[in-house]
Amino acid sequence: MNILILGDSGFVGNVVNKTISKDNEFSLNYIDNFRVGEIDYRSVIEEKIEQNNIEVIVNCIAMANVDLCEENKEQCFQVNVDFVRVLADICKDKNIRLIHISSNAVYGGADYPYSENSIKKPVNYYGECKMMADDYIEKVLVDYAIVRPITVYGPKNKNERHNPVTFYIEKLMKGENINLVDDNYVNMLHVDDLALCLNKILKEKLKGSFNLSGDISECRYDLGYRICSVCGFPHNLIKKVSGSEFKTKAKRPYNTSFDNTKMKKTLKIKPKNLDNSILEIYKKMKNEKNN
Ligand SMILES: NC(=O)c1ccc[n+]([C@@H]2O[C@H](COP(=O)([O-])OP(=O)(O)OC[C@H]3O[C@@H](n4cnc5c(N)ncnc54)[C@H](OP(=O)(O)O)[C@@H]3O)[C@@H](O)[C@H]2O)c1
Repeated sequence: MNILILGDSGFVGNVVNKTISKDNEFSLNYIDNFRVGEIDYRSVIEEKIEQNNIEVIVNCIAMANVDLCEENKEQCFQVNVDFVRVLADICKDKNIRLIHISSNAVYGGADYPYSENSIKKPVNYYGECKMMADDYIEKVLVDYAIVRPITVYGPKNKNERHNPVTFYIEKLMKGENINLVDDNYVNMLHVDDLALCLNKILKEKLKGSFNLSGDISECRYDLGYRICSVCGFPHNLIKKVSGSEFKTKAKRPYNTSFDNTKMKKTLKIKPKNLDNSILEIYKKMKNEKNN
């Protein structure tokens, strides 16, 4: 299967890349120096499709900084909506399957847990744009998968960016205090589960939307408390603060936790145990620190 990955340098793109490159069934293709907004991307993509006989496009490109999107709406729209619409049109014209990475930001945060059939009701501009892109794909394409991972956690390699679990553990290992909010509830997804789901969706050519999450829904304070309990850090290092004390450009939804029934039943992926995974991540970080 000839796959073109767009946005492979990002966090999710990297997971997609690793997943696909491990499997001989998939052949990977990239476009060097691809920038939405700086090049005639439509013809660049079409050329790549012809040259490499592309059958599937996986789009991991996104302007994913929620606050930046609120400040720069034009760029957010260009990358998160316009570009995806063009991509969907190309896929329709050329009969190519599109796998698009979306976000829990399409949901409002009050009517949780959110399944694939829930009404989208974003509370910030980023979520609005992701919703517009999802809606367009659903309208024009038949052979597509919209993959919505919730906040992803997992072990981090040296040059990779932090996720909430590695960030809190690093601070707690240094004995630093952390202020953690009592809202922004999610049921975080382990990066290995994301990879397994993506593999299945690709291999079995599954269609439709997939909301991917773990089983435990908690706010950032609860997560910090759990990390202290599992790893043996003093609980007084973390302090609960009200979400309203944190002023951000973009509004955050209260609780976007997913109903992951489809992930379990259709994809047959059972989320990894959160406590065991936290302990594994902590042991890896402790080992790295000591070596
Ligand atoms: N990370 C998570 O925990 C998580 C959870 C839920 C959903 N998601 C969703 O997954 C998607 C990807 O997020 P991410 O966390 O992987 O974000 P990320 O690490 O910021 O990656 C974004 C990717 O998009 C590329 N990109 C951005 N603007 C571009 C442009 N104008 N032209 C070409 N490429 C551009 C970036 O390339 P450059 O680095 O070269 O700019 C990078 O490869 C988003 O829709 C996000 O909502 C992520």
